[in-house]
Amino acid sequence: MKDKTCLITGANSGIGLETARGLAAQGARVIIVCRNPEKGEAARQDIIASTGNDKVDLLVADLSSLDAVRELAAQVKSQYQQLHVLIHNAGLMPKKREMSADGYELQFAVHHLATFLLTDLLLDLLKTSAPARIINVASMMHKMGKINFDDLQCEQKFGTYSAYGQSKLAMIHYTYDLAEKLKGTDVTVNALHPGAVATNIGFPGWMSLFLASPEKGARTSLFLATSPAVEGVSGQYFNNCKVAKTSKVSYDRADGQRLWALTEEMCGLPA
Ligand SMILES: NC(=O)c1ccc[n+]([C@@H]2O[C@H](COP(=O)([O-])OP(=O)(O)OC[C@H]3O[C@@H](n4cnc5c(N)ncnc54)[C@H](OP(=O)(O)O)[C@@H]3O)[C@@H](O)[C@H]2O)c1
Repeated sequence: MKDKTCLITGANSGIGLETARGLAAQGARVIIVCRNPEKGEAARQDIIASTGNDKVDLLVADLSSLDAVRELAAQVKSQYQQLHVLIHNAGLMPKKREMSADGYELQFAVHHLATFLLTDLLLDLLKTSAPARIINVASMMHKMGKINFDDLQCEQKFGTYSAYGQSKLAMIHYTYDLAEKLKGTDVTVNALHPGAVATNIGFPGWMSLFLASPEKGARTSLFLATSPAVEGVSGQYFNNCKVAKTSKVSYDRADGQRLWALTEEMCGLPA
């Protein structure tokens, strides 16, 4: 990975930190995107110290804000000539309904809108750097969600798992639709479930016995980012480094296209 530049969001803890560390250990230049500058700098120093690779850069952005995502993309384009791997990893699972600065349900904003907008704004850079890979850290819990077009922002009804599930299902629809649009470009896009992993995301304490380490949780992201085995593979969902099936509704292309059009509108992008 020595000549590769990789960007990963939410890289100051958990799966993101270990994915960034794994990429740095393989010699890549790694751009970590974190919302908290102190935590981000601590992670950067930690990765450099543990890998001996000092090509680790920190960019600060709160991905719940669409303006911050636009600023982040502009910074990336002004500072880097190439981008080979883009990993959308930042995530959260709040117990109560929270809103983004733009007025969207927070998980929908961070998991789906930021992923959609950042990819869109960096797509030219990825295409000129091709072969390039986009990796969407989704979740098996997309199976608990449906795209509720009548209440996308969970105003009428909010449940932690259903809202989290909806936002992760949105990422999977997006993965499938983007892969179609990227055919013939040498830019691939895949989604994944990292496993049930002991991180800060907020599982109840009793579950800790059943959870994998963050290092193990980073394996599928690292596999998709680096392995020759997935060269050219696109539009798939991986669990445990293997292609897996997603929920039945995730294959509904009409839903995917409807969501795509709405997302463009929400992100202020031209159709
Ligand atoms: N852990 C699991 O079992 C599991 C299972 C399936 C999927 N996932 C997914 O894996 C990904 C990584 O999560 P994790 O389990 O490693 O949890 P984590 O330790 O809580 O890491 C989440 C990362 O996302 C960052 N983040 C949250 N909101 C952000 C925002 N608005 N802007 C920028 N960064 C933000 C966090 O930053 P702060 O430290 O500043 O909060 C943190 O760096 C998430 O997408 C999650 O949904 C996890």
